[in-house]
Amino acid sequence: MNQTPFTRRQLLKATAALGTGMAFGGLGVASKTPAKISPYSPADPVRIGLVGVGGRGTDLLRILLNLKGNVVCAVCDILPERAENAQTIVREAGHPRPTRYTRDERDFQRLCETEELDLVIAATPVDWHVPVCVCAMKNNKHAATEVHATYELEECWQLVETAEQTHRQCALLENYCYGYDVLMILKMVRGGLLGELIHAETGYQHDVRGVRFGSDGSLLWRAQDMLTRNGNLYPTHAVGPAAQWMNIHRGDRFDYLVSMSSKSRGMHVYAEEHFGKDHPSAKQAYQQGDISTTLIRTVNGLTITLYYDAQLPRPFDMIYRAQGTKGLILGTADRIHIEGRTRPEEWESTAGYREEYAHPLWKTLGLVAGQYGHGGADYIMMYRLIEAFRKGQPFDLDVYDAAAWSVISPLSEQSVAERSKPVDIPDFTRGKWKTNPPLEILEAQSS
Ligand SMILES: NC(=O)c1ccc[n+]([C@@H]2O[C@H](COP(=O)([O-])OP(=O)(O)OC[C@H]3O[C@@H](n4cnc5c(N)ncnc54)[C@H](O)[C@@H]3O)[C@@H](O)[C@H]2O)c1
Repeated sequence: MNQTPFTRRQLLKATAALGTGMAFGGLGVASKTPAKISPYSPADPVRIGLVGVGGRGTDLLRILLNLKGNVVCAVCDILPERAENAQTIVREAGHPRPTRYTRDERDFQRLCETEELDLVIAATPVDWHVPVCVCAMKNNKHAATEVHATYELEECWQLVETAEQTHRQCALLENYCYGYDVLMILKMVRGGLLGELIHAETGYQHDVRGVRFGSDGSLLWRAQDMLTRNGNLYPTHAVGPAAQWMNIHRGDRFDYLVSMSSKSRGMHVYAEEHFGKDHPSAKQAYQQGDISTTLIRTVNGLTITLYYDAQLPRPFDMIYRAQGTKGLILGTADRIHIEGRTRPEEWESTAGYREEYAHPLWKTLGLVAGQYGHGGADYIMMYRLIEAFRKGQPFDLDVYDAAAWSVISPLSEQSVAERSKPVDIPDFTRGKWKTNPPLEILEAQSS
């Protein structure tokens, strides 16, 4: 983390080139020169390998089984019973049984090397996202990763470098970008309702302590990072929607951030109250501050306030404030004020705007989507993912988004550790943000 992005990139370039050669050579497919492969050729049906079939992987599997144009060919998990369960779900849905990979924590490599697949999805804990995606891309498969992609700056560059060298897509499965309100606000912004966009405020504000401890009080994988890290440890749900409203990488990019964390009390209090003062989890020294606040400034002068607030008692709230030269919306508070439309100094409910600014994807898919997780956002995202690969198009959320949204974690940690010092956010697109067209999400057609 102390290395400059440039130095690190040069190093990764060298090692990644070596790694690519080894991976293709090792497979005996050295003749498959990546330069000849297009990242955008249609694949119908999309043949999928799913790595990690715990809670999230199983949710995604159930959606895939209800979407046309894909087939789940292989499943992988270090826990054989979870992979078996996934096989059963697929069989019970009337599809052929997928192959199972359960030998060890690197068995995804065998999956990537032996299966004929178009896409490998990583729904493991975060530490495995980049190894799985890199392995998939080096074996000529597209990759998609659950959020966030990684905690490490180096791994952000590794994803970008590998996608570019192998000409594979690496999609970010950031479902919050597909929520009803998020896409409604996107349409408001694109339609000019808020004027010129100036600021967004979003936050992953969700008391998730209940899933960080086992029933015996032991620390689960989600809690381990609380011991050693202090920053925004789960940034993409909140920064993703703001980045889309602001056309990040499509006319603007993140420039720098500053971050500050409060002291840490919530994990300790929870452990004491639920497992007793003498439980080892109550005696741990948690580093992660209870309220993490990060400010991001873009090159075009827009700002984002980003909260990570996941260890104090509170109701779930993402905020979703978008503010421009003509007014603002506070999405989750159901308030809007538009100059010339709302009475001065007053708020309106968003009710009068919801029909007018309903996103076309929601108009078409809303009924079925609503049966799935995160208020239907999961279904809309997976629909877009499968459609993109079926039609040979770039998925909405690409490797540059994966890198720039995930890197908020390590850079916020760096800022917190250095008394909220400003930290530059690398330009993962290397200048392409200036000419990339805005995301055509509003024109998306459903079939
Ligand atoms: N987008 C969302 O809204 C959302 C919601 C929940 C979780 N997630 C993300 O999904 C990912 C998984 O979370 P989860 O809740 O399903 O966790 P989980 O613990 O329920 O499932 C993870 C699964 O991965 C398996 N696994 C671990 N290491 C593996 C390896 N090397 N190879 C193959 N399998 C391996 C585990 O055995 C487990 O079955 C995390 O990155 C999490 O942040 C996203």
